Amino acid sequence: MSTAAILTAAGSGTRLGHDMPKALVQLAGVPLVVRAARGLALAGCVGAVVVTVPADEVRGFQALFAGARVPGTRLPVRIVPGGATRQASVAAGLAALDDGVDVVLVHDAARCLTPPEVVTRVEAAVRAGHRAVVPALPVTDTIKAVGAPDGSGAAPVTATVDRAALRAVQTPQGFDRALLEAAHAAGAARAFDEARAASDDAGLVEALGEAVWVVPGHDRALKITTPRDLALARVLLDGER
Ligand code: CTP
Ligand code: MG
Repeated sequence: MSTAAILTAAGSGTRLGHDMPKALVQLAGVPLVVRAARGLALAGCVGAVVVTVPADEVRGFQALFAGARVPGTRLPVRIVPGGATRQASVAAGLAALDDGVDVVLVHDAARCLTPPEVVTRVEAAVRAGHRAVVPALPVTDTIKAVGAPDGSGAAPVTATVDRAALRAVQTPQGFDRALLEAAHAAGAARAFDEARAASDDAGLVEALGEAVWVVPGHDRALKITTPRDLALARVLLDGER
């Protein structure tokens, strides 16, 4: 049995605002999707990667993964068209996995600087018997719950949430394959509705009533969402040189 990764790269990157899908945007000369795939390869525990891409960009992504391998490695890659929501894209990736895969990591191409140690930590926790595992970091901001805004746009605070009990969740998220397939099957009706689709896979597992476990994440596993995030990623890379 083996571990496979689904690398979600089918989003358009509206908030980043480039004239190409976010996964193709370059960071120090390397597209985000290639950087993210290399991080999975360096972890050493992933046997294959399925990349979900915009349906009209399949050829362009295939060209990035010449020979159907992660560049510079022997890790096999399959490119599949994604869906209208991240949830639908992951479902398309699940449908493309080989028979021998029993553990699945779902990772965002947008989290392209995720250290390999986070990948191995998540995979090891699944192999150790935790069937759904997410990496996460403590929350540093004070978080308040609010009610409906008044006419001026000011919203009343209804509670200050206990920060010690909160975590900001990252990827890769790791799952026993059968559990992740069951979770996606149960949530399938939500997949094509942007407002109801799950923003992470663990949420679908929670909806089944199954336990989800947290292991330490990493600040380099940040998601590149806005131009500010891309600028921060550049600073982090520069700090390495
Ligand atoms: N994703 C996907 N399929 C979709 C939407 C998103 O595979 N239909 C992927 C993105 O490519 C990204 C990850 O899910 O790697 C997280 O999504 P997000 O950061 O929201 O990326 P985009 O949807 O591309 O960005 P935006 O929401 O700003 O358009
Ligand atoms: Mg999005």
